[in-house]
Amino acid sequence: MRIAIIGTGYVGLVSGVCLSDFGHDVVCIDKVEEKISMLNSGKVPIFEPGLEELIQKNVAAGRLSFTTDLAGPVGDADVVFLAVGTPSRKSDGHADLAYVFAAAREIARSVKDFTVVVTKSTVPVGTGDQLERIIAEENPDADVAVVSNPEFLREGAAIEDFMAPDRVVVGMNDDRARDIMAKVYAALDPQKHPVLFTSRRTAELTKYAANAFLALKLAYINEIADLCEQVGANVQDVSKGMGLDSRIGQKFLNAGPGYGGSCFPKDTLALVKTAQDHNSPIRLIETIVGINETRKRAMARKIERALEGDIRGKTIGILGLTFKPDTDDIRESPALAIVQALLDKGAVLQAYDPEGMPAARGMMPEISYRDGVDEVAKDADALVIITEWKHFRALDFDKLKSLMKQPVLIDLRNVYVPSQPLSHGFVYDSVGRAD
Ligand code: UGA
Repeated sequence: MRIAIIGTGYVGLVSGVCLSDFGHDVVCIDKVEEKISMLNSGKVPIFEPGLEELIQKNVAAGRLSFTTDLAGPVGDADVVFLAVGTPSRKSDGHADLAYVFAAAREIARSVKDFTVVVTKSTVPVGTGDQLERIIAEENPDADVAVVSNPEFLREGAAIEDFMAPDRVVVGMNDDRARDIMAKVYAALDPQKHPVLFTSRRTAELTKYAANAFLALKLAYINEIADLCEQVGANVQDVSKGMGLDSRIGQKFLNAGPGYGGSCFPKDTLALVKTAQDHNSPIRLIETIVGINETRKRAMARKIERALEGDIRGKTIGILGLTFKPDTDDIRESPALAIVQALLDKGAVLQAYDPEGMPAARGMMPEISYRDGVDEVAKDADALVIITEWKHFRALDFDKLKSLMKQPVLIDLRNVYVPSQPLSHGFVYDSVGRAD
């Protein structure tokens, strides 16, 4: 298959690279010249384990290339993937489709023979219908089928998620497109990685329903964690006890400071809006959006309690700023709200994150950024783990104690068994473990 991918952001780049690894001829297109020239010189603009090697391999094999020219590759393509951004609109929380629609118009002007246009970007239900209309309006002769093929990639594990997915969901209302999409994913073993064909609207909704369900699981376990603290129970054991029931499952039951990232906050909000617009409100998701927001600031109160209620003028060392490990992404990271709440209460902050500091510096200029764990611990009244990077999993407690003003550790990811820091004389608090 000849494939063109529009947008070399996270989703577009990972999808393009993996599709070329499946053996397809892939051209990745982006308007931003710096990105394309960076990619052409073998460098990757995002942090994702394994991506650079996979790019080099497929470029060398002649299956993968990068360009700013849209018309040429789209004209030659059997399949065009749309992977441009769909940020939340500031005004009303709806997904902003301006980039998607603009790209659709360009595609309409460039297609030649029958072409499948696939949305990979997360778009509200009904967007496929709108795209069809826009393309027909822009070029009445264009022979295209619009398909929804949502991505289910986790940052940090995106390549594995693409190459060995739990499932691929493909929604369309056109049999020719179905045959072509089956070829796109022909490299996947259908026994292990089924491709589910649905209607287009069903596929669009499946993406939101899945992300909102995962967010729901997290909000739920986080509230159970709060209750554990009140009744003297242990949330990790509650999670295990629940999750061993295969109907529930172990995953996404780790309590923490609240979910963040570029997907859950945006997608839950967009689902809430869509449901309200169709007069079918999903109150459960409306509720968890609120729970998650409140939770982040509640984490700052937890830190305050560990320091006996007063953090004005105290130095707090922050370990981890990204919304989860193995990414440089701090979008909607719980760290943003926690940091703000601590600053509001007069704390002095010093922080370290293995990958997130370049992005964090712009968004949180009040923090003093340090080069490692020891530097963050130096003269600190408390250390707070916000992100569970592997770098923070084997802290040298005796050394930290000698560097800190007082040995206090607040572990918002339950990285440690409490007896570890406690046996080294630390005051230790974590999430939902009061037994
Ligand atoms: C999420 C979904 O997991 C993907 O399937 C989906 O494709 C993607 O959104 C998307 O829509 O693009 P991602 O945002 O990369 O992926 O991150 P996750 O690994 O899902 O984590 C989301 C948040 O939940 C993080 O802040 C993480 O720390 C938190 N989390 C996750 C927990 O607090 N506890 C857990 O047990 C799991």
